[in-house]
Amino acid sequence: MTLFEKIRCLLTFGQGVALPLPELSADTTPTQLFEQWFNDAKKSGVLLPEAMSVSSCNADGQPSSRMVLLKDYDEDGFVFFTNYASRKSHELNDNSKVALLFHWNVLQRQIRIEGTVEKISRQESADYFHSRDRGSQVGAWASKQSQKLKSDNELKERMSHYQEKFSQGEVPHPEFWGGWRVKPHAIEFWQGRANRLHDRICFEQKNDSWSQHKLHP
Ligand SMILES: Cc1cc2nc3c(=O)[nH]c(=O)nc-3n(C[C@H](O)[C@H](O)[C@H](O)COP(=O)(O)O)c2cc1C
Repeated sequence: MTLFEKIRCLLTFGQGVALPLPELSADTTPTQLFEQWFNDAKKSGVLLPEAMSVSSCNADGQPSSRMVLLKDYDEDGFVFFTNYASRKSHELNDNSKVALLFHWNVLQRQIRIEGTVEKISRQESADYFHSRDRGSQVGAWASKQSQKLKSDNELKERMSHYQEKFSQGEVPHPEFWGGWRVKPHAIEFWQGRANRLHDRICFEQKNDSWSQHKLHP
């Protein structure tokens, strides 16, 4: 079987096999449904089920997207970690409006999240930073994320410099590195169904409570 045939087989596997959206009660929160779907994605064997796209906008309104890893979530939002001097962080500082996207193709599921970002506390960022492997901690110091690389050697030299500098004891948590929390105000769950008659359910937050409605596919 060719790679293309295998991929098509996986994609059509969901057709008609995928379950419809569960019946939701009026007080189901999108976080509860997210948890069910995220657990399904983890069980499905998808590589990096926590990978999600983050879209930000620059001052001209030009959107840009990139993948990051979801590290935490609860009713307050969805957390990822990055360099606070990176392109995405500059854009999020200037414009806190943000969109996240998950796609788990074997499950024929997509989740779209729209909201605003805020930085998590220094302590939370430091705790997570120190839970990472040492190489990633030193790498965070070495990388001037999103800046132009002067030469191929620049990064290697910076990595060697910080490996030596932090050869003893704990690697300090850099000021310029930490987490963003995406506080959602709209979340859409998309379940692929046969004949392109997909299920879409949207949650919208108004006055601290969530309303639900469905959309045509
Ligand atoms: C699967 C995947 C996961 C990633 N996870 C992260 C992450 O958690 N944090 C991060 O800063 N970059 C992550 N990256 C790299 C980003 O996609 C991106 O290249 C980097 O953050 C710089 O983006 P920016 O220049 O737009 O700020 C990941 C890339 C991939 C493909």
